[in-house]
Amino acid sequence: MISTNALTKKFGSLMALDNLTLEIGPGELFGFIGPNGAGKSTTMKILACLLRQDSGQAFVCGKDVRKDADAIRRLIGYMPDFLGVYDDLTVDEYLQFFAAAFSVPRARRRVIIDQVLELTDLTEKKNAMVDSLSRGMQQRLGIARVLIHEPQVLLLDEPASGLDPRARIEMRSLLIELRSMGKCLMVSSHILSELAEMCTSIGIIERGKLLYAGSIQDAYAKVRSASLDIPEGRPGVAHERLVITLHPSSPAAHTIAESIRTHQRVVAVRVEPSGALAVDIATEADAGHHFLIEIISNSGGRIHSFAPAEIRLEDAFLKLTTGALQ
Ligand SMILES: Nc1ncnc2c1ncn2[C@@H]1O[C@H](COP(=O)(O)OP(=O)(O)O)[C@@H](O)[C@H]1O
Ligand SMILES: [Mg+2]
Repeated sequence: MISTNALTKKFGSLMALDNLTLEIGPGELFGFIGPNGAGKSTTMKILACLLRQDSGQAFVCGKDVRKDADAIRRLIGYMPDFLGVYDDLTVDEYLQFFAAAFSVPRARRRVIIDQVLELTDLTEKKNAMVDSLSRGMQQRLGIARVLIHEPQVLLLDEPASGLDPRARIEMRSLLIELRSMGKCLMVSSHILSELAEMCTSIGIIERGKLLYAGSIQDAYAKVRSASLDIPEGRPGVAHERLVITLHPSSPAAHTIAESIRTHQRVVAVRVEPSGALAVDIATEADAGHHFLIEIISNSGGRIHSFAPAEIRLEDAFLKLTTGALQ
């Protein structure tokens, strides 16, 4: 539905987009993630045919942004990061205005406006003034507005920015709903955790360069080892960290740690201040973790809990990127 090939854009000497190549398929919710100034809005403006690239190509639904701008504008809904303010309009008048601007047939306008109001949970605010709405409602109205001409592809630039936690949750369920309607969504954010979990795929951009594109699961797998920071790790081998808490009736954690340390798959064992054992092991696809359980029980230990160390999404991506990503 969306593809770019070596897309490049400079502003003077500033390289805003540097050979950006990405692909977003139908039905995807693509999270476009990167710090402020990374080039997210620039990419989306090029895709929305509002800005020309210097080189490279961009296609929406197979149409070239440089050749088929009019067709693309009818196929996409683009919500900019800054929502224009329209004083003295009610929510309904605001949507009527955009329906007319998009040449939605008069007879169809009432039906479609009621549908998008329902979808964005604004039916009750139909007669409220636009500037009286909360930030969360205004953002949802922004989405209602880009749905008026029933586009298949949505480009939403930072729809969750500046929202309180509750409004963010409402925005998230709206995006998931749009995805379930089969729309292709490209949604940007400078906050990874705002989006990542609900996306079918993500792209991470920094200083105009795409650092990663793929599924969130693959991203996790890629950074799991690195983000654990295992200095004793064996080169070229994937590692994992398990956190084991012991029942109080067990022998001292340090004693158990010594027994664990002797196993050849174990690269490091630490006793955490909480008394839990953090065990770094070399990953072996078929071998599992049972050997640890055996060692502990042979040492007289009783396991209270046994789990992979939690990797914080934010930490993981800090390792994946050069470090500027917040
Ligand atoms: N019209 C413009 N003129 C000059 N520089 C610009 C313009 N638009 C964006 N930039 C610069 O290009 C870079 C990328 O901007 P942008 O795409 O808005 O980033 P993001 O949306 O990821 O925050 C930034 O360094 C920004 O300052
Ligand atoms: Mg931006």
